[in-house]
Amino acid sequence: MEYKKKIVITGGAGFIGSHVVRLFVSKYPEYQIINLDILTYAGNLENLTDVENAPNYKFEKVDIVDANAVLEVFKKYNFDSVIHLAAESHVDRSITDPNSFVMTNVVGTANLLNASREIWKDSFEGKKFYHVSTDEVYGSLGKTGLFLETTPYDPQSPYSASKASSDHLVRAYGNTYDFPFVLTNCSNNYGQNQFPEKLLPLMIHNIKNSKALPVYGDGNYTRDWLYVIDHARAIDLVFHEGKPSETYNIGGFNEWKNIDIVNLLCKIMDKKLGSEEGTASKLITYVKDRPGHDRRYAIDATKINKELGWKPSVTFEEGLEITVDWYLKNEKWLDNVTSGDYQKYYDNMYE
Ligand code: NAD
Ligand code: DAU
Repeated sequence: MEYKKKIVITGGAGFIGSHVVRLFVSKYPEYQIINLDILTYAGNLENLTDVENAPNYKFEKVDIVDANAVLEVFKKYNFDSVIHLAAESHVDRSITDPNSFVMTNVVGTANLLNASREIWKDSFEGKKFYHVSTDEVYGSLGKTGLFLETTPYDPQSPYSASKASSDHLVRAYGNTYDFPFVLTNCSNNYGQNQFPEKLLPLMIHNIKNSKALPVYGDGNYTRDWLYVIDHARAIDLVFHEGKPSETYNIGGFNEWKNIDIVNLLCKIMDKKLGSEEGTASKLITYVKDRPGHDRRYAIDATKINKELGWKPSVTFEEGLEITVDWYLKNEKWLDNVTSGDYQKYYDNMYE
């Protein structure tokens, strides 16, 4: 079959990437979707068992740090579009191992840009490089204010510095070579299939196992939470309707202090597990703070709302309920990803 588009989605076996792959494979049978992923600890093909046999889906195990391997696969498929999500994504890991963040997030992005330029050298007509980034590039907010697309970059962790570098590279290719790109910066995602090193799934897993709930510092750090499927919907919209060379901020209009979100989760989990109210919150334990911890993130998503008509489709209460139910129903998924290497990481990090 002659496909209308050939899209490579990098990092498609990860948390957000798997939701984007599922959406594109099922919504657009006329597009061929190639999931390019090296399957680090965070990449899991079990996230995609429902679409793995779709005729318009293919998986390629490739390390984006390997320039030759990237170019080879780009030549093999002759993609017209790239949606780039592959990254090292966990701030705490970037503090203990910054170099792997530089390699994947900076060098890996440069390799994808170069391979795209090479296969698109005759013409950029109908081509698109969509770079998926984070609100962490803007640094930390005080008590008030929101991140706008025009907020100056001020990354504070090795993770956010590596993502900021990759954003700069993408824009520099746009400026220097007229390279066709679009970029989004999104706030904290939550939902099914998130690796349990991140706040919400880690707390769900620990409550289920009656383990301490490690809250960093005073717990009054603030994040703006968005349901992952709403992020995938935004990516679909920006991919199809976003203006070339533009940046769009994506956020949940949904700020929470960490301690409040953990308390809310404790209440929900007590109900779901049939425990007496207050059981889970007794597990809350304040622990040493994350070094250089950003105090507050909050996105102003007016531009994507006004220009493209995007807004979240579920409330936080609805999204959280779906998420908790999913983790309780998918014990096998959680057991598989929390055994082995993750157990070692957890022991080093928290014990
Ligand atoms: P994740 O850690 O769950 O998944 C990352 C995926 O990238 C994994 O499948 C992994 O195997 C793959 N990968 C890592 N290194 C690779 C390499 N060298 N070559 C090929 N594949 C590689 O990450 P996520 O939370 O789904 O985030 C996806 C993207 O969205 C990242 O770029 C991240 O910066 C961005 N983002 C995440 C959030 C969030 O809250 N999780 C918010 C905003 C933006
Ligand atoms: O803002 C977008 C970013 O959100 C993404 O770019 C990152 O990839 C993603 O990991 C996320 O970064 P955070 O550092 O905000 O997410 P994390 O889940 O690690 O932590 C959320 C907050 O909870 C943060 O203030 C640290 C705190 N925390 C986290 C963990 C894992 C705790 O208090 N205890 C914990 O055990």
